[in-house]
Amino acid sequence: TGGAAREPDLAGLRILVTAGGTREPIDPVRYLGNRSSGRQGVAIAAAAADRGAKVVLFAANIDSAVLSEVQDRAAVRVVPVGTAAELERAARAAAAGAEVIIMAAAVADYRVEDVAEQKIRKEDSAGAAPVLQLVENPDILVGLVHQRRPGQVIVGFAAETVEHEDELVERGRRKLARKGADLLAVNAVSWSEGFEAGENTLHVLSSDGRPATVASGTKRVVADELLDVVRETLDS
Ligand code: CTP
Ligand code: CA
Repeated sequence: TGGAAREPDLAGLRILVTAGGTREPIDPVRYLGNRSSGRQGVAIAAAAADRGAKVVLFAANIDSAVLSEVQDRAAVRVVPVGTAAELERAARAAAAGAEVIIMAAAVADYRVEDVAEQKIRKEDSAGAAPVLQLVENPDILVGLVHQRRPGQVIVGFAAETVEHEDELVERGRRKLARKGADLLAVNAVSWSEGFEAGENTLHVLSSDGRPATVASGTKRVVADELLDVVRETLDS
C-alpha cells in the first residue's frame, strides 16, 4: 500500500528507524512528553520497506492510527518503547544488525531524577507546588555514532524553532558537527507547524555541513527523498 511502485533499491539492507516521542514518568499517572506524532518516522519506515529494506521501527508512544501505515507490511517490525532509557537499550542492542540507522524520534533531553512511587497529591504537599528535579538523558545518537560499524550510515533529525531559514541550516550544521552523524535532517517547527501536519519540509545536510537536498511535500514524499540521499551516502 501507499507510494508509487519503485525499484527495490534498498533490498538487502536492514534499517533501524526510531520515531515518536519518549515519555519520562513523573509518577504512576504523569509524564513529561513532547509533541512528536511519529508520522515522519513511520513514513520513512513504510517507504524503506516498499524499496526492499527490512525495517525495525522503535515506536515511542505513537498513536495506533499513525502506526497503521506500517501494520500490514511484513518487512516492518514494530517495537514499542516508552522512555529514553528504554529506547537507548533497544537501539544499542539492535544497532550492530543494521546498515542504516535513522533517528527520527524526539528523545527527551531530561528525565525526572526520583520518580514518585505513588501519585503526587495536592493533599500531601500543603499548598506548595512540587519542584521536579531533572537529570540529563544520555544522547542515544552520539552513543550510536561511537559504536558505528564500518560503512554504517547514521541519520539524525532536528526539529528547530527559528525565525529564518538561514538559522535553521546554521543550527543544523552545528548540531551535525557536534553529533558526528553522517546526515542530519532538519525541519522547522512552531506552535502551529511541523507536528500533526501531513506535509513537511526537510533540509538534509551531509556530514560536511552542505545541504544535500531540500525535500518538500507529504511526509511520504519527503521520506523517499531522504532515502535517496541515504542510498547515495551508502554508495559513496
Ligand atoms: N537525540 C538522541 N538522544 C538524546 C537527544 C537527542 O539520540 N538524548 C537525537 C535525536 O533522536 C535526533 C538528534 O539527536 O536525531 C537531534 O536531537 P535534538 O533534540 O535536536 O538535539 P539535542 O542535542 O538534544 O539539542 P537541543 O538542545 O536543540 O534539543
Ligand atoms: Ca533535544
